[in-house]
Amino acid sequence: MEDTHAIGVPNVERHYFLPNDEIKNLERIDLLSQKHPVNVLVAGKQGCGKSTLVRQFAAKNKRSLATFQIGILSEPGQLFGDHRLKEGETYYQQFLFPQAIQTPGCIIHLEEINRPEHPKALNMLFSVLSEDRQVWTDELGLIKVAPGVIFFATLNEGEEFIGTEMLDAALRDRFYIMLMGYLPSYIESKVLTLKTGIDEVDALTVVNIANKLRSNSQEPITISTRHTLMIAEMLNVGASIREAIINSLQISRDILESLLHSLHMDLGMAKEATEDGYQEY
Ligand SMILES: Nc1ncnc2c1ncn2[C@@H]1O[C@H](COP(=O)(O)OP(=O)(O)OP(=O)(O)O)[C@@H](O)[C@H]1O
Ligand SMILES: [Mg+2]
Repeated sequence: MEDTHAIGVPNVERHYFLPNDEIKNLERIDLLSQKHPVNVLVAGKQGCGKSTLVRQFAAKNKRSLATFQIGILSEPGQLFGDHRLKEGETYYQQFLFPQAIQTPGCIIHLEEINRPEHPKALNMLFSVLSEDRQVWTDELGLIKVAPGVIFFATLNEGEEFIGTEMLDAALRDRFYIMLMGYLPSYIESKVLTLKTGIDEVDALTVVNIANKLRSNSQEPITISTRHTLMIAEMLNVGASIREAIINSLQISRDILESLLHSLHMDLGMAKEATEDGYQEY
């Protein structure tokens, strides 16, 4: 589980929007971290901007960021290092995690903290998240969390999962919580326009369709901001809205047709009906 990425300050991402109160909250987290290390749990549906939030926080505050996939951990010490063999000798290779947590002010992003492969994988992590902020390892001795460190754990679920056994109660008790949702239509369409260059009318149409599908009472489907951006990029290289949606989402043509109909749209359908629709490729 060696992570070879260097620890460094990420670049600011343009056109990343957050509610004002979340921005205030992040400013307070920054202040708190000047007194002692802080843990923040960021929960929200897939592609709603959790990883970007962590990266942007590091970028804006000019702090180093190091990201670790907790979801793939299968044994307790795995974040710290492992024993290797070289020319018949074993030696201990230290990984990035101990270095990161000993870096003052570092932002530590723990991805998918609710899903380690092995239940004991979180044990050593638990020590650094707890009040004493230190952990003993046979190979590296006592490792203490540096001043100013913030742990951002992201949880790829809706808020309904936070209160359940998905996350150990004792662990959850040590975190501030941020719940993220998808952006309101106006802001989401603005993001699409700013990031991909499609016009405002198209952007709003994509977002309206996405919202219709998200809130479909019979069969709601999850469409992330990542995915509306993908649809917008397709539009930007010449696809019609209908084509871009059909080629991005797993919805049947029937559902899409009735949806477009309900939005009083008739996008590109006439063209399709008059052509044979096939050619050699
Ligand atoms: N609030 C937002 N403003 C602007 N862009 C956003 C916003 N939320 C998400 N995006 C864009 O959507 C994409 C996905 O965001 P990100 O990877 O941060 O989501 P995530 O919640 O971490 O996803 P996952 O659940 O898959 O880990 C990125 O390109 C990001 O810039
Ligand atoms: Mg993410």
